[in-house]
Amino acid sequence: MAEGRAAEIAVNREVWAIVNERFTNGAAEGMWVMPEVVWGLFATPERELGVLGDVEGMDVLELACGTAYFSAWLARAGARPVGLDFSGEQLATVRHLQARLGPDFPLVHADAEQVPLASGLFDLVVSEHGVAAWCEPERWLPEAARLLRPGGRLVFLTNSNLSALCVPADGGVAGDRLLRGQRETRRVQWPGGGIEFHPSHGDWVRHLRSAGFIIEAMHEIYAPDDGIDHPFYEIASREWANRWPAEELWVAVRP
Ligand SMILES: C[S@@+](CC[C@H](N)C(=O)[O-])C[C@H]1O[C@@H](n2cnc3c(N)ncnc32)[C@H](O)[C@@H]1O
Repeated sequence: MAEGRAAEIAVNREVWAIVNERFTNGAAEGMWVMPEVVWGLFATPERELGVLGDVEGMDVLELACGTAYFSAWLARAGARPVGLDFSGEQLATVRHLQARLGPDFPLVHADAEQVPLASGLFDLVVSEHGVAAWCEPERWLPEAARLLRPGGRLVFLTNSNLSALCVPADGGVAGDRLLRGQRETRRVQWPGGGIEFHPSHGDWVRHLRSAGFIIEAMHEIYAPDDGIDHPFYEIASREWANRWPAEELWVAVRP
């Protein structure tokens, strides 16, 4: 791996040790026990979006799984998930939740840009605010394609490019002004944060196609007027996300 990228990964790993200690460790349980599969900051139900379909019996890899509540939901829906993350702290939270609440599923402690698993093992690769924001698209998308069986699907949720354009330079939540050039969102580092990737739609299309994917859909996720707020992630307020999509849900197939 290029030296520069290895250094960025090291910074991101440190950030996630801190985030785990401050936020996700204590709050993950509430997400883990959600009664159905939902997407993103404002818990948009999968039954409204229908991007996963019936996951019963599917082999699923969750890339950059964090506290892996998404894998827990998929396991309860009958899938066979594997959660992968590079943070030992995040995976320790997962093990704790598995032991306390079940279900149990395998975990892999690794970098999502270099996955130590054989090719063609999975029907579905999924990520919810994980790999798409934290890994370089040129590196992780070919890995996702390699790990999928022919006909397998990639489904990932990430911050919208628009929200990344509107986050103030000192971090915090999106406002109602464009605060940087669109190409600057390809690689961003918020103060005190890690190195993130928030490509434009055109960039995503190019990256997905060069990794061999056929794009099936891209859903722009708006916040409903009321409902649940995520216990530990904040990109935009509910009011903002009710007017503009704060998140994007991409669906692609490996032919
Ligand atoms: C926003 S969290 C994951 C969201 C997950 N749904 C959750 O909330 O628990 C992002 C995760 O990406 C992981 N991550 C960041 N860069 C990674 C990399 N290069 N390889 C694997 N995991 C990575 C972090 O450790 C963190 O757990």
